[in-house]
Amino acid sequence: MAEVEAASGTTGAAGERDTWTSNRGFILAAIGSAVGLGNIWRFPGVAYESGGGAFLIPYLIALVTAGIPILFLDYAIGHRFRAAPPLAFRRLFRKAEALGWFQIGILFVISCYYAVIIAWSLSFFYFSFGTKWGDDTAAFFTDEYLHLPKEVGVSSDLVAGVAWPLAAVWVAIVVVLALGVSKGIEKLNVIGIPLLVLGFGALVIRSVTLPGASDGLNALFTPDWAALRDLNVWIAAYSQIFFSMSIAFGIMIAYASFQRRKANMTSSGLVVGFANSSFEILAGIGVFSALGFLAHQQGIAVDELEGISGPILSFVTFPAVISQMPGSALFGALFFGSLVIAGFTSLISLVLGVSVALQEKFGLTQRTAALTVGIVCGAVSFGLFSTATGLYTLDTVDQFANNIGIVASAIAMCVLVEFTFRNNGGWASRSIDELRGHLNAVSTFRVGAWWVPLIGLYAPVFLGIMLIEKLRTLIRDGYEGEPTWFVGVFGWGTVGLIAVIAIVGTLFPWKGRDDPQFKAWPDVRPVVAAKKGAEQ
Ligand code: ALA
Repeated sequence: MAEVEAASGTTGAAGERDTWTSNRGFILAAIGSAVGLGNIWRFPGVAYESGGGAFLIPYLIALVTAGIPILFLDYAIGHRFRAAPPLAFRRLFRKAEALGWFQIGILFVISCYYAVIIAWSLSFFYFSFGTKWGDDTAAFFTDEYLHLPKEVGVSSDLVAGVAWPLAAVWVAIVVVLALGVSKGIEKLNVIGIPLLVLGFGALVIRSVTLPGASDGLNALFTPDWAALRDLNVWIAAYSQIFFSMSIAFGIMIAYASFQRRKANMTSSGLVVGFANSSFEILAGIGVFSALGFLAHQQGIAVDELEGISGPILSFVTFPAVISQMPGSALFGALFFGSLVIAGFTSLISLVLGVSVALQEKFGLTQRTAALTVGIVCGAVSFGLFSTATGLYTLDTVDQFANNIGIVASAIAMCVLVEFTFRNNGGWASRSIDELRGHLNAVSTFRVGAWWVPLIGLYAPVFLGIMLIEKLRTLIRDGYEGEPTWFVGVFGWGTVGLIAVIAIVGTLFPWKGRDDPQFKAWPDVRPVVAAKKGAEQ
């Protein structure tokens, strides 16, 4: 094992690739990435709209059949090839670099609008003290805060109330990113995750003890079995799992690339997957208990409440709940503070992927890459999403980046590892077999043979059906009644932009790949096999 230890990258010599200082640091960072706005802002509404309690069935099936297997795949690729997606895929199969840039395109697009939701949360954290949203929370959010016009369109009027907190978010992101993986991101999560667990835990406990909480929980968990026959419910479950676990769009590849050479990957993956889903269900319980309380105060049934999905749930309905509560400032601060922490520890992982990819391709230093990504993403954030029409553009871009971009990327990854062969010391093996061997060589939880058909057959076929259905619906019905030109520019345009990033990123020549810090490790499997042989 001496070779494994020597190459573990922990010696701290100049020019070496940064690593997580411990497995605990990696797990906390991976949980920080997974637990984000998707858990608090998106899951409760999606679950409610997609069959309530019955949604948990496709959700858990998606977790077991695609979530955990693709998380393992991300970990295997990132750890085996020790690079951000473009270089990692290139090392796996030369022509697959474009898929890496496709994932970087997705990360870039999501980062630009994700930061804006954190900026809203920061503002609402401040508004909580004194419940500044008043009685009409809908008018406050859309008119007073966002200056949102009634007509869907494009405005160039920057909204100062969004722009200032957004600037703070981007400055903080660049600082943490420039500090690096161990000194910046790991430390952020070591502090942030316990804070989030405490803050959000307190909020959930308070919520479930409110009058009417049980009505809210009944509304969330009462199963509508008929929903299971609707393909769109299954699509919603798989999309939620991908976004929420931060898988299939490069984040976990980049995070795993900073693990030491001998690191227990699959057991960490199980911890991360379990923690993420637990937090998600906890968020559903907290949010719906609070909605039950709101309905109780208004003397109506929970299903008569309006605005139980998307941004409206967090920024219109939830403030209305907060206003009704004794000790509202504390409750509001806990909710919006949790959104800020959960969002920030996820945004850093989105942006890291882009930054490391640029470092490796163009030979940039960590700081230059961090600053470049901060400036470019920040500029798009300001220009497109912090103007008066930002909510419209954000919602449309989010829909297409997730339901088309991430699903297409997941399919491509699975097909790639199933159908490519790699030369290992004179004999060819399928990439997927090599990756399974790699995971088993470094981990205590062994990935069984079941993993191969799940990745190679089930996932691409099922996700392919989902993608075709989603494309068909979007082409036939458009999106949310928005004008065709708007969906063309911001919806299909997002998909086009990601594809362009994939092509252009691939065409640039490599400058940084040969830097010692970007070297891949030699195959760990023979070392482990030799050790096992010696022990017998
Ligand atoms: N996984 C992150 C979230 O759930 C991106 O928000």
